[in-house]
Amino acid sequence: MAVQICFLLSWALFCSTAMLLAIFLKHRKGCGKSDRKLPPGEMGLPWIGETAYFYRSQRGNQLFEEFVQPRVAKYGKIFKTRLLGSPTIIVNGAEANRFFLSNEFKLVISSWPTTSVQLMGINSIMEKQGEQHRFLREIIATSLGPAGLEILVPKICDSVQLYLDKNWNVRDEISLFHSAKALTFTIVLVCLLGLNFEPGTLSTFERVLEGVFAAPVSFPGSKLSRAKKARREIKEMLIKVVREKRKEMESGLVGDERLLFTRFVSGMIRGEISEEEVIDNVVLLVFAAHDTTSFAIAMTFKMLAEHPDCHYLLLQEHDDIMSRRRPGENLTLEDTKKMKYTWQVARESMRLFPPIFGSFRKAIADIEYEGFTIPKGWKVLWTTYGTHYNEEYFKDPLTFNPRRFEEPIPPYAYLPFGGGPRICAGNQLAKLNILIFIHYVVTRYNWSLLCPDEQITMDPLPFPSHGMPIKVSLKSS
Ligand code: HEM
Repeated sequence: MAVQICFLLSWALFCSTAMLLAIFLKHRKGCGKSDRKLPPGEMGLPWIGETAYFYRSQRGNQLFEEFVQPRVAKYGKIFKTRLLGSPTIIVNGAEANRFFLSNEFKLVISSWPTTSVQLMGINSIMEKQGEQHRFLREIIATSLGPAGLEILVPKICDSVQLYLDKNWNVRDEISLFHSAKALTFTIVLVCLLGLNFEPGTLSTFERVLEGVFAAPVSFPGSKLSRAKKARREIKEMLIKVVREKRKEMESGLVGDERLLFTRFVSGMIRGEISEEEVIDNVVLLVFAAHDTTSFAIAMTFKMLAEHPDCHYLLLQEHDDIMSRRRPGENLTLEDTKKMKYTWQVARESMRLFPPIFGSFRKAIADIEYEGFTIPKGWKVLWTTYGTHYNEEYFKDPLTFNPRRFEEPIPPYAYLPFGGGPRICAGNQLAKLNILIFIHYVVTRYNWSLLCPDEQITMDPLPFPSHGMPIKVSLKSS
């Protein structure tokens, strides 16, 4: 009996030791696997990680200076952290931008916060992958190709002039940022898509946009619940418009295929795209264009105000273009191509003040990069500042020097519009919007900043905290 008990005890001891050893070895192997090649960096507290530091520096528009740069100095261009529960690798530099952006769909896919997806809709282009993404981009790109742009120019000119006559001629103090927003909204909805809208639609859209990056908590009165309500209103409005358009086109009324909305509805009639896809992509286009283009315009004017020599050169370019046109005649696409210096000024402003800090991707496979492993499921954040502010690519990076764009820029070093398969689908429209707006403002108005030391805030997109107030008066001739 004693021998049996002894045997059982020894057997139990042997089994538990073996089990503990197996757990220990497995744990060690696991740690080894995840630690072995992970990039350096701190993961911070459980779940929350370094989110608090990230948000704090973002709010003060110091995300690069206070969060990214000190970590680059400590760990190098690639480092790990944890943001909002997700292990994240932040990458900087042209080579990293090229690697991650051009491997979209193969190694990474874009990754947006849940609230953004809920408000833009799961059918928008930003949520599409592979073939479905290519198909939607083709529809959008056709309206923004050379033929589409040719038609857009006079429409944008009309919208800008009408807006300025109505709003700027009767006031001497204007919020430049809000003017740019109102105009961008009209240009996307009316000029690009071909939709008309009721007064008040802009503020409904803006309520949606305010929730796009809000905290994912919805209670009565919260940003997110207000945004969701506004999104429902927009959906109802757009369903009506889509169905009317479809009925018209099915009853034989030929739509103007040069307008993006007509192309969307044609695709719907042919069964290639659903009603939800049309609605979600209209909302996405407004969102993608709105704060980005307006911020680019606002910062270009700020740079012009701070660099009168650049303003002088730019004005000469526009006076010259104007002198070749009959009074009241609209600009043409050819005229916008002559605005070379103006585009250099705008590009330099977007280099120093990129409207988009960078954006998130998610690894869809274990990725080997620069001797490190980025495990499947981890997020990757590429940044514009990582190259825009780097001496390696831009001499005296903090100096405003539009002429630097006369020299070729290394690939993937200048990325206000991103890169790879998800490069901004609206970059040519943004360019026209910026150039044409500048043309009419500088040739018609004397203007000056009312708040030259205005702070730039980020939430999470950057904006001038007081809306960039300016003083304007009509030029005498
Ligand atoms: C100065 C103005 C603009 C800037 C700085 C800008 C910037 C960007 C950037 C950086 C991306 C890539 C995001 C990523 O990689 O995750 C992007 C994507 C996109 N942008 Fe723009 N954008 C601007 C204006 C516009 C306009 C006017 C439109 C159209 C009306 C537009 C439509 C889009 C679309 C549809 C995408 C998604 C492309 C895709 O997923 O394939 N953007 N934009």
